[in-house]
Amino acid sequence: MTAKLINGKEIAAQVRAKVAQGVEARRQRGLRAPGLAVVLVGDDPASQVYVGNKRKACQEAGIVSFSYDLPADTPQSTLEDLIDELNENPAVDGILVQLPLPAHLDADPILVKIRPDKDVDGFHPFNMGRLAQRRPELRPCTPAGITTLLDSIGTPYKGQHAVIVGASNIVGRPMAMELLLKGATTTITHRFTDSLEQFVREADIVIAAAGKPGLIKGEWIKPGATVIDVGINRMADGKLQGDVEFDAAAQRAAYITPVPGGVGPMTIAHLLENTLYAANNLHTDQD
Ligand code: GUN
Repeated sequence: MTAKLINGKEIAAQVRAKVAQGVEARRQRGLRAPGLAVVLVGDDPASQVYVGNKRKACQEAGIVSFSYDLPADTPQSTLEDLIDELNENPAVDGILVQLPLPAHLDADPILVKIRPDKDVDGFHPFNMGRLAQRRPELRPCTPAGITTLLDSIGTPYKGQHAVIVGASNIVGRPMAMELLLKGATTTITHRFTDSLEQFVREADIVIAAAGKPGLIKGEWIKPGATVIDVGINRMADGKLQGDVEFDAAAQRAAYITPVPGGVGPMTIAHLLENTLYAANNLHTDQD
């Protein structure tokens, strides 16, 4: 078998076009454009690229992008004061603080300070709790984007075994909640799992989000499985590699995401979707 590629770039473009239509519909109703504040602290090169892509995508969809580039030695109190200010700003529907933050900063109090109705990353305990209790509002972007990819290929979910590799707050944990909500039997594996291979061999859906290049061997993939690779690992030669041995896995899977061009573009698409959702549904008093 040779797997069909799941084209994240193309599906993300469809989501973004729909967001752009939604923004235009607001304009025609005489409402302001949605606004997203993107905060970058320090000069981590990967974060600079991600943030640049997020800001550009906003502009393309007609969302106003507010940029805050703060020096690496920014004190915690300055960042917290900025969040207070953005929470109060009626032109801002979404606030995103790019992670990871420099080591001297504590991300938790900052993420909790973002008003839940402006938490377009979906990382606030309120939004994680809503998802856990099956009443999602602002959903974490990468798991939401993966769910859109799985929907696009008609994944049946119920009766399927989904195995997630990696238990992070950003991907693994909220991904499990998304898959449970869809009705999949869901297992999260992580660094302390003894027999990763056995779990992956059983999986109808594999979500690889460990951040370790080539961790998932192609021969472990169950014939006909769907493989979603969240890993974006920069190799010594400058190329990007996923967490899955792509070529060997593609011989066995029915569907597989490429790296790059699979999951990555979906995260940004859902960020825009969340920002429009917040403007339309959570901030009608700000128009
Ligand atoms: N760093 C890596 N992924 C993300 C993300 O989805 N949101 C934010 N804010 N930071 C990240």
